[in-house]
Amino acid sequence: MKTIVLGVESTAHTFGVGIVKEREIIADTRYRYEPEKGGIHPREAALYFMNIGPSAISEALRSAGISARDLTGVAVALGPGLGPCLRVGATHARAMAAYLNKPLIPVNHAVAHIEVGKLVTNVKDPLIVYLSGGNTLIAAFNEGRYRVFGETLDIALGNFMDTFVREIGLAPPYVVNGVHQLDRCAEEGKELIDLPYVVKGQDVSFSGLLTAALRAVRRGVPTENVCYSVREIAYSAIVEVSERALAHTGKKEVLVVGGVAASKYLKEKFEAMTGSRGVELAIVPPKYAVDNGVMIAWTGLLAFKSGITVEPERAYVRQRWRLDDVDIPWFGQ
Ligand code: FE2
Repeated sequence: MKTIVLGVESTAHTFGVGIVKEREIIADTRYRYEPEKGGIHPREAALYFMNIGPSAISEALRSAGISARDLTGVAVALGPGLGPCLRVGATHARAMAAYLNKPLIPVNHAVAHIEVGKLVTNVKDPLIVYLSGGNTLIAAFNEGRYRVFGETLDIALGNFMDTFVREIGLAPPYVVNGVHQLDRCAEEGKELIDLPYVVKGQDVSFSGLLTAALRAVRRGVPTENVCYSVREIAYSAIVEVSERALAHTGKKEVLVVGGVAASKYLKEKFEAMTGSRGVELAIVPPKYAVDNGVMIAWTGLLAFKSGITVEPERAYVRQRWRLDDVDIPWFGQ
């Protein structure tokens, strides 16, 4: 019999419900919380999720053409993420699993970004560059887990980009027609200005760059030149630490995952670096680079087949659940 898993994603701004039947994606329902101004308010997002959650689940089942009884199991992203948001997804998934008497499968959101990336791009054992609003990680599989080889010492790349464009009045919305406002503004820039480039060993840091860039705008430096400089510095720092991790791990593929993976300028920089090293580059297409329920369902299916489940009453959310805390027994299968 084929394994069918429903996955619930609610770690940040997206409430997603995906359903997979083995390697086939049979439902992909998404609702995104859009704050009217400012950044994401966890409680408001959670409230929105509570309102749309039950209907999002029914909608996914309907679009898959199955009933809840046909599911083999229910997977849920238990972390890392925003507490109030995580709890809503967990509550829905726990209730479903308990009511249907089906296994509940715990999924780490970062692992799910990687697994769906491997599914849709077909890479096998890549160096992983995970760039999103909340995460900036360079990782690779080694001895049973995805090990972290580099990360941000302060804010994540996506959060940095969003904060910068918001502070200078270009956002929200942060992304228009698939292009981040930082990239858009940088297109007009002509001159590189002096801003801090911070790479410490394998790690990057963006808080000093943020402060200096905002100060430059306030000082009257043309915004487009600041955007251009910020983009060049931030993306170059990411590519530099990725290249170092490639040299260290000897991996032959690079997989870029997460919501920031869509930037074509970042892609160009990665192409130049991987091309010169003879390494394959795979970038997750935007549809699966952003948060979604399919990635949770797919990772849940892999985990379930390796015997990983959790009792609903013990399925606690873990806001800071690290990628390298998770065993990956299914790797290479
Ligand atoms: Fe994410």
